[in-house]
Amino acid sequence: MAAKPVKILILAAGKSTRMKSDTPKVLHRVAGVPLLRWVLEQAYALKPEQIVVIVGHESDRVRKAFADFPKIAFVTQEPQLGTGHAVMQARSQLQDFSGDVCLLCGDVPLVRPETLAALQDAHQRAHAAATVLTTELHDPGSYGRIVRDADGKLSGIVEAKDLKRGQERIAEINSGTYFFDAPALLGCLDQLTTQNAQGEYYLTDVIHLLAAQGAPVAAHVCQDSREVMGINTRKDLAQCDKIARERVTDALMANGVTILDPDNTYIEAGVHIGRDSIVYPYSAIHAGVEIGQHCEIGPFAHLRAGTKLGDHCKVGAFVETKNAVYGNGSKSGHLAYLGDVTLGQDVNIGAGAIVANYDGKHKHKTEIGDNAFIGCGTVLVAPVRVGKNAQTGANTVVPKGKDVADNTIVVGAPARVLKTKPGKAT
Ligand code: UD1
Ligand code: CA
Repeated sequence: MAAKPVKILILAAGKSTRMKSDTPKVLHRVAGVPLLRWVLEQAYALKPEQIVVIVGHESDRVRKAFADFPKIAFVTQEPQLGTGHAVMQARSQLQDFSGDVCLLCGDVPLVRPETLAALQDAHQRAHAAATVLTTELHDPGSYGRIVRDADGKLSGIVEAKDLKRGQERIAEINSGTYFFDAPALLGCLDQLTTQNAQGEYYLTDVIHLLAAQGAPVAAHVCQDSREVMGINTRKDLAQCDKIARERVTDALMANGVTILDPDNTYIEAGVHIGRDSIVYPYSAIHAGVEIGQHCEIGPFAHLRAGTKLGDHCKVGAFVETKNAVYGNGSKSGHLAYLGDVTLGQDVNIGAGAIVANYDGKHKHKTEIGDNAFIGCGTVLVAPVRVGKNAQTGANTVVPKGKDVADNTIVVGAPARVLKTKPGKAT
């Protein structure tokens, strides 16, 4: 079936009261990536005409963080009077649009693109005015409950705070993810009221209004309830983070990476690791880090943003890296800090070596040439260059700007030339 044109609405204006945070909820991170980024990835997979993000609480910070993303239009909701009221703010974007609106919540980050595609398909096949993505939960907690009539047809959604006797037992919940026929959605917005326990305009009432008019409304059940988890509290955030990181480690293992203890390894989304690399427990690898093949990471390694390892590299116990690029075969076995540094090939970094990249005001770069050997406890004060096949003795301090020439051994603090070696490098 040829898909109807789609516009996406992302609700991200809420006050996030339950997070108890100065930061807008959609800027909190799951597996190292802001919630709104996760939701935008879902949105782009649907190839929409436009993505309208409703922002409110601390809206400037959200706009700034996502200003460069394609197809985005931001609309401010002020004050925030509920999810239905949030949608009302996008009236002008939806006015002359006859396609579908996919509505996503900024606090529901883990819906898979396949699930959204199935929701879209179900919506279009049923020629529905609205299709809700639902799931079944043992403990439906604060989620809105799906109400069906005697024939099992969807008739409405009741918010947890508005449940009537008997409705607490309903296990099917509203994920907060929907497809709407745009004109049908617009037609209902004026009819929403605040006659409910929270005194808010509920988007969920649109379902009841449409069903009562006899318009076709449908529910599509997501089998994996972990996908549609919403984040309202810090505890939800921690649970979601775990689910997201499990996806990350599952995918890496499927691609040939050994992760010996995934439950005790912290790997963020967007990390690339080549096959036959091994990650030992208690290591943390941040978003965007790239690791080649046959590398050895950890235990207790900390690889921060901008770290790029070639093949056959090692970042061992209690080594922290940041903006560190390792050529093939370069190794830092134990107890080191390497920040803003480029290592050539087959460099060896001794235990306790430090690249002092920060002078209290600015960060500076360090370069270490192929086959260089950095002795235990060496401090390289950036900016500085250590040449190819050069060597530093134990506890050497190489001051900033005092480059070590190729094939040269330096010792002491400050470093002085001990001798020149017969060179491997030229
Ligand atoms: C909402 C649904 C509930 C569903 C749950 C799924 C309503 C009334 N309830 O409840 O049925 O089970 O999501 O996670 O829709 N927002 C705004 N403006 C506002 C209020 C909220 O943009 O004025 C945004 C929030 O930032 C959030 C989303 O809408 O991203 C959902 O709001 P939230 O208050 O978290 O609703 P829930 O109580 O979780
Ligand atoms: Ca929520």
